[in-house]
Amino acid sequence: MVDPHPRWLRWPSEAQRGRLAFGADYNPDQWPREVWDEDVRLMRAAGVNVVSLAIFSWARIQPTEDTWDFGWLDDVMDLLHANGIAVDLATATASPPPWLTAKHPDILPVTANGETLWPGARQHWRPTSPIFREYALRLVRVMAQRYAGHPALAAWHVSNELGCHNVYDYSDDAARAFRSWLRARYGTLDKLNEAWATSFWAQRYSAWEQILPPRLAATHPNPTQQLDFKRFSSDALRDYLRAERDLLRAITPDVPVTTNFMVMAETKGMDYASWAAEVDFVANDHYVRPGPQALDELSFSANLTGHLAGGHPWFLMEHSTSAVNWQPINIAKRSGELLRDSLTHVAHGADAVCFFQWRQSAGGAEKYHSAMLPHAGADSDVFRSVTQLGQALDALAPVAGSVRRPARAAILFDWNSWWASEADSHPTSRLRYRQEALDWYSAFLTLGVRVDVLPAAAAFENYDLVVAPVLHVVPAPLVERLTRYAAGGGHLVTTYFSGIVNEHDHIWLGGYPGALRDILGVRIEEFSPLLDHDTVELDNGVTGTLWTDRIDLVDPAVEVLAWYKSGEHTGRPAITRRPVGDGSAAYVSTRLGPAGLRPVLEELLAAAGLHSELPAEIRGHVELAMRETDVAQFLFLINRTDEPVDLSAIDGEPLVGAGTEATASPEPLTLAPRGVAVLRRT
Ligand code: GLA
Repeated sequence: MVDPHPRWLRWPSEAQRGRLAFGADYNPDQWPREVWDEDVRLMRAAGVNVVSLAIFSWARIQPTEDTWDFGWLDDVMDLLHANGIAVDLATATASPPPWLTAKHPDILPVTANGETLWPGARQHWRPTSPIFREYALRLVRVMAQRYAGHPALAAWHVSNELGCHNVYDYSDDAARAFRSWLRARYGTLDKLNEAWATSFWAQRYSAWEQILPPRLAATHPNPTQQLDFKRFSSDALRDYLRAERDLLRAITPDVPVTTNFMVMAETKGMDYASWAAEVDFVANDHYVRPGPQALDELSFSANLTGHLAGGHPWFLMEHSTSAVNWQPINIAKRSGELLRDSLTHVAHGADAVCFFQWRQSAGGAEKYHSAMLPHAGADSDVFRSVTQLGQALDALAPVAGSVRRPARAAILFDWNSWWASEADSHPTSRLRYRQEALDWYSAFLTLGVRVDVLPAAAAFENYDLVVAPVLHVVPAPLVERLTRYAAGGGHLVTTYFSGIVNEHDHIWLGGYPGALRDILGVRIEEFSPLLDHDTVELDNGVTGTLWTDRIDLVDPAVEVLAWYKSGEHTGRPAITRRPVGDGSAAYVSTRLGPAGLRPVLEELLAAAGLHSELPAEIRGHVELAMRETDVAQFLFLINRTDEPVDLSAIDGEPLVGAGTEATASPEPLTLAPRGVAVLRRT
């Protein structure tokens, strides 16, 4: 259930309520003064009502240790306010200026190999450096005091994408902070030695000072040390976030504080489930990775972000109008994708749609990254699409403040399992945790069944069906929760390499899948990963890759949903389901991919009594997401295909029409290729 009044949900200013926020990172310090007037004129033309300002402005604001230059920033703040544009003001600490790194090179991060990450790019600071923190907090204090009463100030934006480039630092500062973190976690060296299994390879520690981050070693560093270092590194950045936030709250208690998360495919280092409660509202950055699951991945990330935000509105702080500059090949968005991608975030709870960045840079490393106002200027398809998006967001004002309507099925997402399942020295190095979760999500989308992507610690008890792909790390309390869930009538589904270790990365003994063996009613003596080009056939017509298991059924009540019909385990179970009271526990022992999971999921959903809310003809063609208030429901229908889709069977008053043209149309009967319709039901 969505908590109606979470302590932490404080939206940027009353002025932003009742409408969707729309804007971008704004970097006026890259441009001469005369350009700013054109900027605000075009921002107004496009419907922009918020910008993030001063993200990379430290060297401009504080040109030397003892000089400050706020004149330009005062002017920009005033200009934006005069034009009705609110400011999400950065603390400007994301990238330290050259004078600071020259004076204190010991704030620079160090890699596992002992190489220094030198200045010259950005974010070259150690999360645990006391010196960096001192300088950064001084800047935060000065910024907060200066702009405390400014009418444009709507929210604080701590740093920027904490951990984007510096999450793993192996410096001496990190070593000291890691030891303190370990002392707090374990209390005694004996406990640490036990948790880290240091009897292995003569690793037993006799003093805390001997402990180091997992620096480049002769071979596999201790796995629990590696896992703890990942946990520590995420916590160290969170601790830094708290330091800036606490100072901001002390000076401007009424201004909400956020920082932009990176819930997206390639970002693994930050356990955002443990960060979300630290901010006043959740903000996310998302960039599309081209490929067959690009749109599914966008939806998955937006869905998970919505649940990090507890089902409440969140802020899309950055995405792109078109190409980025940091992928191997940077392709432009196709017609309709700018609007569709933006509204997919709104469908999953975003009440703000912002971009990196407002005006495309003429110089610097991001000059080929798209923006709202491209190099070509306002007479461009990108700017026309941006303006259309502004109109669509206006038409969607009634959606602002609404919450996600919970689905009946959930996928559990767990950072600890992500980190631990992909560690080295494992049965396979090819396992990709997030990809397995995404494949299940794609299967749900193909079947037209709504599903919520939940952090594993969230309440999943009310869902009829819970899929926990590669739930590798299962501490005892989670075993109990999952067991109670199935015994209480829930339908649990899990996969290969789940239930294997406890929180210390120690094997649950007695046969796999260890912690989940009893509830699943199966036992596996040895893992059977597959070589890269090997496949196995199942008797339900699907093909497995990556992994197989030699399953013994230990509970006669277990049904076999599919058998291996090729490979070493021919004639043995591949997919099983054990009835547990009114519920069940199912196990999928191989990697099936989105297409192979589809028939399997269909069967599991049917057994759990779950069905699509969409007419049969459009299932898979359209993603359905729903938001609601006390008096209205909003249906977002997102065309996943390049073909038109007939929506005539769906009722509702159209707020945004069905075309790639984002006009409020009275008859959204046909959804254009890549189009989005939003219907209101009261
Ligand atoms: C990140 C950063 C931005 C910009 C974009 C480019 O999200 O926060 O400053 O570099 O990437 O995609």
